[in-house]
Amino acid sequence: MPVVRVNDIQMAYTEAGAGRPVVLIHGYPFNRSLWNEQVAALSGSYRVIAPDLRGFGESDSSNEPATMNRMAQDVAALLDHLAVPRATFGALSMGGYVTLAFYKQFASRVRALILADTRATPDTAEAKQNRAKQAEKALAEGMAGIADAMLPKLLTPETVSKRPEIVKRVRDMMLKTKPEGAAAALRGMAERDDQTALLSKITVPTLIVVGAEDAITPVADSEKMHERIAGSRLVVLQNAGHVSNLERTEEFNEALLEFLSESSS
Ligand code: MLT
Repeated sequence: MPVVRVNDIQMAYTEAGAGRPVVLIHGYPFNRSLWNEQVAALSGSYRVIAPDLRGFGESDSSNEPATMNRMAQDVAALLDHLAVPRATFGALSMGGYVTLAFYKQFASRVRALILADTRATPDTAEAKQNRAKQAEKALAEGMAGIADAMLPKLLTPETVSKRPEIVKRVRDMMLKTKPEGAAAALRGMAERDDQTALLSKITVPTLIVVGAEDAITPVADSEKMHERIAGSRLVVLQNAGHVSNLERTEEFNEALLEFLSESSS
């Protein structure tokens, strides 16, 4: 597993394939293994880079809030290390918050965007309070309670009842997350900027993907991004919730491959 020093942490990442670079940014509270099927599907034609964000997977945590800007700077430093000046970004949920923060700071390094199950708007006051409570809970009790509470919101009821392998995969990712990493990310997400005004400044090809039954970042959030990002494409995946790349892998990969091949010309 490659690891590189970026800013004040050691960051782990996966790199596979050759060609135009595609960076995949995972959501909360997951890690880069979220993208295993996308790495496999894309690495035949692209150079795929999937980091563990700070505090997740095999990357180090830091004690202060892991802000979206900070995580975006970590990704920029990783790309510097890999001599990648510009890449297409694919991101799910919190990964999308990080990717919009990346676009705001380093627009010239973004060739195209894939925003899956995410939103541009910030937390409400209530959501911020809930993040603070969840951070305390993770630190005091570990990840099991958080995983149990999140699972039914991450997956459709059908996946929860009929696809135990996906339930286990998602639960295991959450249980492997370090409580201090989860707490830092929760505090960082609570502080994130409203990126709504950024959307109309996005000039790169953009694909927006969302599960029709996403209970965390509902279809309406994707529709709002689609309205504001000129020329963007919106794909709504039926029978999928928030982790749409795992629940509808084939359709998700198909949408990505089609978009990538069109946006490369
Ligand atoms: C995620 O999937 O990254 C998170 O659920 C996003 C969030 O909590 O806002």
